[in-house]
Amino acid sequence: MARHLITSALPYINGIKHLGNMVGSMLPADVYTRFLRQTGREALYICATDEHGTPAELAAKEAGLPVAEFCAQQHEAQKAVYDGFRISFDYFGRSSSAENREITQHFARQLQKNGFIEERAIRQVYSLTDGRFLPDRYIVGTCPHCGYDKARGDQCENCTRVLDPTDLIDARSAISGSSDLEVRETKHLFLLQSKLQGEVEAWIDEHGKDWPVLASSIARKWLTEGLNDRAITRDLDWGVPVPADTWPELAAEGKVFYVWFDAPIEYIGATKEWAGQDPENRDWKSWWYEAEDVRYTQFMAKDNVPFHTVMFPATELGTREPWKKVDYVKAFNWLTYYGGKFSTSQKRGVFTDTALELLPADYWRYFLMAAAPESDDSSFTWEHFAATVNKDLADTLGNFVNRVLSFSRKRFGDAVPVGLEEGEAEAQLGQQIAELLLEYERHLEDLQFRKAAQALRALWSAGNSYLETKAPWLEIKTDPEGAALTLRTAMNLIHLYAVVSEPFIPATAAAMRSAFALEDGTAQKRATWVTQDEAKSLTFVPAGTPFTVPPVLFAKITDEDLETYRERFGGSEEA
Ligand code: 2FM
Ligand code: ZN
Repeated sequence: MARHLITSALPYINGIKHLGNMVGSMLPADVYTRFLRQTGREALYICATDEHGTPAELAAKEAGLPVAEFCAQQHEAQKAVYDGFRISFDYFGRSSSAENREITQHFARQLQKNGFIEERAIRQVYSLTDGRFLPDRYIVGTCPHCGYDKARGDQCENCTRVLDPTDLIDARSAISGSSDLEVRETKHLFLLQSKLQGEVEAWIDEHGKDWPVLASSIARKWLTEGLNDRAITRDLDWGVPVPADTWPELAAEGKVFYVWFDAPIEYIGATKEWAGQDPENRDWKSWWYEAEDVRYTQFMAKDNVPFHTVMFPATELGTREPWKKVDYVKAFNWLTYYGGKFSTSQKRGVFTDTALELLPADYWRYFLMAAAPESDDSSFTWEHFAATVNKDLADTLGNFVNRVLSFSRKRFGDAVPVGLEEGEAEAQLGQQIAELLLEYERHLEDLQFRKAAQALRALWSAGNSYLETKAPWLEIKTDPEGAALTLRTAMNLIHLYAVVSEPFIPATAAAMRSAFALEDGTAQKRATWVTQDEAKSLTFVPAGTPFTVPPVLFAKITDEDLETYRERFGGSEEA
């Protein structure tokens, strides 16, 4: 059986991310990893902060801190938020680690040895006003392809095309806004991607067949346009230094690698950081080098696709070493805020730390996955959020759990009641649950998160329908044994929900599990997935099992709450 390696695009270090970042990288990866683990697969989930580059330098300057200190602080701040969201990384590393420096330098030496790196004198944009060379992303202007007027010198966010700063129309400094720019000569290392074009194409032909269209079409578009050689060094103080043993002159000038060169290598670096925590039992290399038994799945938003499907594979291929390459690229469209952009720089939308101050993580986790921008962009609105929380989480799941447990306790005491043997209605219910469970599993295997959320909701609804049909609050008057059977069956459903809802709503799942004092201490363990037989028979929580009634699982979002949220965050793009 394959081992699963999972990575989420590394979040930039410069500030807490918004919900749009969460839905396109970490959250779906976490849902998938939890599902794999629960179904008995070995999975390693790695992520890290992306710490190099100009954005980090500038943000540190703004915060009045040395960049290393700024990054250390921000790493902790981001980590706290991801813990709050219950993102179950095996390791959350830092691209500024010694491990990443070492592996990045190794990659560069290999590429040099194999003739894929060349030193070239280039003419680079220098800002007289800012007194520095401007890295590509700090030059902005109009995209020559789509006309977007805030395109960056490295990539157009609007049409995803990769750009060169000199392509931009009306270029200006993003730091000062000054167009007092001049071009000066300086030496840099170039990755000769053009030489690797054929190999990357062949690799995508072979491995990209099953990728989602979003990922494969972006990769192919980029290849069709032709792979250009790219400068992979920069004139910055903060980054992985160019190794002096191979390029003494450039090293002496203080050149560092371009952030997009070392960032994907940090997937490997962070795995090594993880292994370093327990070297006796962990072997980072077995996940990455000659790792034929590993299935590697990457999660990212669409703007990251070119770097992951083309540039990083080209880098790996060029080392002429058997580094693990991605098997499946799960890419997402944008989550918008009322149809407009979530924007870190313009502070529009909801940030992940603020989200957790408002409501527990499971509210966000479920909503974001149910509305994930998979086949198209999707829009966050407070109205949609409230409706989803109230209907699916509070009414369909939460209310079911509380109603069943409270009513049973009132009538039959603190243990799962005995009652009649299962009859026709329970057999039908079991059959229906088993079928829905299969559907849910299939969508999770296929990484179809919206559909998986729908199937999960259908599982919850099936319990409600059963309860409405059997109406134990009426049965109790004429047939108490029958009512006990209904409640016992419903409690089995609650336990099943507790297990299979874990990927989406882990905290609530744990609360539901711990309602039952099962002998195996199930609440404390990671729940093992439900088998088809267990789903059909619905008898895995035996009569006589003590239980407690948990506090209300999901509070409804009231009209008043909604008004407060709209006022605070703005209810439209312009707000
Ligand atoms: O776009 C971003 O947020 C980048 N920090 C993603 C890097 S992913 C990886 F390659 F490191
Ligand atoms: Zn464009």
